[in-house]
Amino acid sequence: MTLRVEPSGGACGARVTGIDLSQPLDPETIAEIRKAWLEHHVLAFPDQAIGDDDLERFTLAFGGFGEDPFFAPIPGREHIAAIRREAEETSPIFAENWHADWSFREHPPAGTCLMAVDIPPHGGDTHFANQHLAWDMLPEVRKAELADLIAVHSARLAYSPEGTYAARDKQWSMDIRPGEAAYATQTHPLVPAHPETGRRGFYSTLGYIIGIEGMAQDRAIALLREVQQWQGDEPFVFAQKWEPGMLVMWDNRSVLHRATGGYEGHRRELHRTTIAAWRG
Ligand code: SIN
Repeated sequence: MTLRVEPSGGACGARVTGIDLSQPLDPETIAEIRKAWLEHHVLAFPDQAIGDDDLERFTLAFGGFGEDPFFAPIPGREHIAAIRREAEETSPIFAENWHADWSFREHPPAGTCLMAVDIPPHGGDTHFANQHLAWDMLPEVRKAELADLIAVHSARLAYSPEGTYAARDKQWSMDIRPGEAAYATQTHPLVPAHPETGRRGFYSTLGYIIGIEGMAQDRAIALLREVQQWQGDEPFVFAQKWEPGMLVMWDNRSVLHRATGGYEGHRRELHRTTIAAWRG
């Protein structure tokens, strides 16, 4: 089989064919996929006949499992979470705001893998925003203002006992476990160099970022709001359409992502793993 990588033609993303993910991958193939991943940031592998064992093996090949707080894994698996919405569910769409997975951790996951389990007939695209492009296209004066800022991250707005996912009036079918640990904070540069490619880009966004070190809170939030608007601007965004049998992997260090709706009355389920932080 010959690996084929077809760029989406958009801000990021490529479709990878000529590979069977139900089989173990040899080191050369893993290296080829990694190269494509670093170049395109989001890779979609269509037409795979795979299950949870294959998802785990794939994740391990790219750096091992990341730590996943605030979710209970699916029964019988330690590292797989279900991103699920039942057909009749009325709670807000999970993860509808731009984010980089678990950016509030000291060692956030390098990447995330999502495997289609139940795909609605329409809607439910995952949007990705290329943060290298967002940085590159920023006017130089703005770059000078933002280049050295240190962002303060926290899970509190989403996963604390008062956070979005603790709301008692909403019933998420996903097994989300809010907790006190969500109040912790962690700093990361706002515009780090990618640890593997050296390319700079915004890392994470308002929501998981709750402030800027050394900056008054109202000023920081106003600034982060403006930056977020830019980060998710249309020229940087690619919409990944889901197909049954598809696996998608993305690089949290170079893209933001968000879920979308548009499939009311239909069930959607994907199994998710995170790829551990890259420690070179
Ligand atoms: C996520 O943020 O992990 C979920 C993305 C999606 O449901 O499309």
